[in-house]
Amino acid sequence: MSSSLVSVQYKINAAYTAEAFTDLLRRSTLAERRPVEDAECIKQMVQGGNLAVTAWQGKRLVGIARSVTDFAYCCYLSDLAVDHSFQGVGVGRRLVQLMQEQLGPRCTLIALAAPDANDYYLHVGFEPHPRAWVLRPGSRVHLGPGAAPQR
Ligand SMILES: CC(C)(COP(=O)(O)OP(=O)(O)OC[C@H]1O[C@@H](n2cnc3c(N)ncnc32)[C@H](O)[C@@H]1OP(=O)(O)O)[C@@H](O)C(=O)NCCC(=O)NCCS
Repeated sequence: MSSSLVSVQYKINAAYTAEAFTDLLRRSTLAERRPVEDAECIKQMVQGGNLAVTAWQGKRLVGIARSVTDFAYCCYLSDLAVDHSFQGVGVGRRLVQLMQEQLGPRCTLIALAAPDANDYYLHVGFEPHPRAWVLRPGSRVHLGPGAAPQR
């Protein structure tokens, strides 16, 4: 086990800045798949999520699980990221475990894996869902032939 792991502290819904979040995304490689060039979007991600479990070494943010949830039925785990120098020593697993502990007994954790993390989710206990669907920005709901014209 890394000696640095000993000093990692976990916090539930502790404040963190958009800058610290962006920096962590970069240090984890998740920045390749998150809008780090769009400061306003990142700011809204930080402010709009309602459950974050964070890992800290002193004042340095070294891991995060950031979710949007109703705490009762569904919890969308949007971002799971661990600083590359802390990866592989159990920080990610602990973040998910602590996140689940904040949720009610009927609440499902839902995640969309980055390609390199697909096996990770399976490894830590998630199951794949063959009927997950997304409506991307720019895509629109297809209107049926009888639909009223859009204003
Ligand atoms: C994916 C990520 C969050 C995992 O966090 P981590 O702290 O490195 O993972 P852990 O140390 O908790 O690993 C738990 C187990 O999963 C394994 N594992 C870690 N990363 C893995 C991966 N990408 N694929 C498969 N298994 C992986 C570990 O070897 C460990 O195995 P063990 O049970 O034999 O000990 C982290 O590597 C990361 O930030 N990656 C870049 C960003 C990313 O892809 N995030 C997820 C997409 S939203």
